[in-house]
Amino acid sequence: MTPFVDRLGYKFNTDDGFVEEVLVSEIELLDTTGDVYCPCRMRTGDPKEDAKIVCPCIPFYRDQFAGLKKCWCGLFILKEIEDGTDLLGVIEEPQGEIDVPVFRVDDLPDGQIRHVKVGRHDMAVARVGDEFFALSNVCRHAFAPLAEGFMDGYFVMCPWHGWRYDVRDGSTDHPGADVKTFAVSVVDREVRVRVLLK
Ligand code: SF4
Ligand code: FES
Repeated sequence: MTPFVDRLGYKFNTDDGFVEEVLVSEIELLDTTGDVYCPCRMRTGDPKEDAKIVCPCIPFYRDQFAGLKKCWCGLFILKEIEDGTDLLGVIEEPQGEIDVPVFRVDDLPDGQIRHVKVGRHDMAVARVGDEFFALSNVCRHAFAPLAEGFMDGYFVMCPWHGWRYDVRDGSTDHPGADVKTFAVSVVDREVRVRVLLK
């Protein structure tokens, strides 16, 4: 990856932790989809279109990224940038709250939960009937991924030792172990999660 992006005038972001998070997400996508898709954008299902968001996607978005001084996710930044920590996230002005589309309503059946990564936010998004909820993907007991848990009404059970979280507010019976939740909206049958980017 590095020699290729180097030729395009880019390098990895200087924030090593962020780079690691994005690369881990990409490896997860490689395992589940067979390709290194961008973790910050939705796939359309059209292989031709989706080929444009296989990482590194810089050749397809050169003008746009040149203006941003980074790729959309902030994994890569222009080589001349010394400190990329202000260039993390998925929008041009990485300040404040934004509703990020993550998948379409029909992509998640009722009673299911799935993993979603938006920038540095790692979350599990659940569907109960026509309602959608997003909470941290990380169980507070021993850090299992809640998106691999089992849904029971408004509750998700951790896949490892069965702690139960209410997907509506992230609460659990275990004192001090509630998890963070994210606001979810549905617009034009697109599920969006609200994240704070800074
Ligand atoms: S926006 Fe960045 S992280 Fe996403 S596919 Fe393009 S180069 Fe990779
Ligand atoms: S890691 Fe979730 S219950 Fe143990």
